[in-house]
Amino acid sequence: MSHTLHPMRKARLQRSELAVPASNPAMIDKAADGPTDYVFLDLEDAIAPSEKVQARKNAIQALNDIDWRAKGKTVSVRINGLDTHYMYRDVVDVMEQAGDKVDTLLVPKVGVTGDLYMVEAMVNQIEQAKGFTTRVGLEALIETALGMANVEAIAQFGGRLEALHFGVADFAASMRARTTNIGGLNPHYPGDQWHASISRMVVACRAYGLRAIDGPFGDFSDPEGYKDGARRAAALGCEGKWAIHPSQIALANEVFSPPEAEVTRARRIIEELRKAEAQGKGAAQLDGRMIDAASERMAMNVLVLADAIAAK
Ligand code: GLV
Ligand code: MG
Repeated sequence: MSHTLHPMRKARLQRSELAVPASNPAMIDKAADGPTDYVFLDLEDAIAPSEKVQARKNAIQALNDIDWRAKGKTVSVRINGLDTHYMYRDVVDVMEQAGDKVDTLLVPKVGVTGDLYMVEAMVNQIEQAKGFTTRVGLEALIETALGMANVEAIAQFGGRLEALHFGVADFAASMRARTTNIGGLNPHYPGDQWHASISRMVVACRAYGLRAIDGPFGDFSDPEGYKDGARRAAALGCEGKWAIHPSQIALANEVFSPPEAEVTRARRIIEELRKAEAQGKGAAQLDGRMIDAASERMAMNVLVLADAIAAK
């Protein structure tokens, strides 16, 4: 290992993250009782300009009225972008009126670290002024060419930043990629056209101790397509994916939970390595495959996740 290490800044179970338009209180109530790990109440792109003010009020009410933690959920609010005049009031009103109830703010279209600096400075002041003893976290959507070009710098922001999300829809738009299909594969591309970008974001996350989350898949009538996308993201190191429809929650929970056979194998890896260690050996074999200290680190990732799921 390098002498420089950036430990995980904040672990949270985030296999499924349901996007809920805050303009719709019935959907918020349903989300609170559903099987998702994470909910974000959206004030941004799912909300028409004429509904922005009411959506903000609904989000604040839902934060105050619903005990999200008791329901086993992490709750986040996606504020509007820094290029809009809604953003400052989203931060001020949500934080002043429910800042001790919301777990994180999700900041869209982050392009430079200064975007996070502004939000961080505002929440610092509001938490101090209100005397909150809680500390809201920040998550950033990487969904523009500028954000991706600066993703390594953004990941190093520090402060309250806990996670980066890959926003494939806005990213496609920003890149002028030839598609109008949210998160689906382009049949003209040999492979996954988002592979390099997701991978780049995940590297930045893991280098600087952040969670890496994959964004939306628009075709909610295609569960297999969703699961394939989720499996590709998981293979690269993402720990969860958005659900833009309640039917996608179970799919995400399934893909991002290690199956029993994987957990059993992880336990056996640790056992075999302990036995080898007792004999003064660093490496061992399991089912005809070599295992060593790196296998232990991979196995521990599986076991820590399995424990977090069991503890939910
Ligand atoms: C999410 O916000 C996206 O643009 O994909
Ligand atoms: Mg977006």
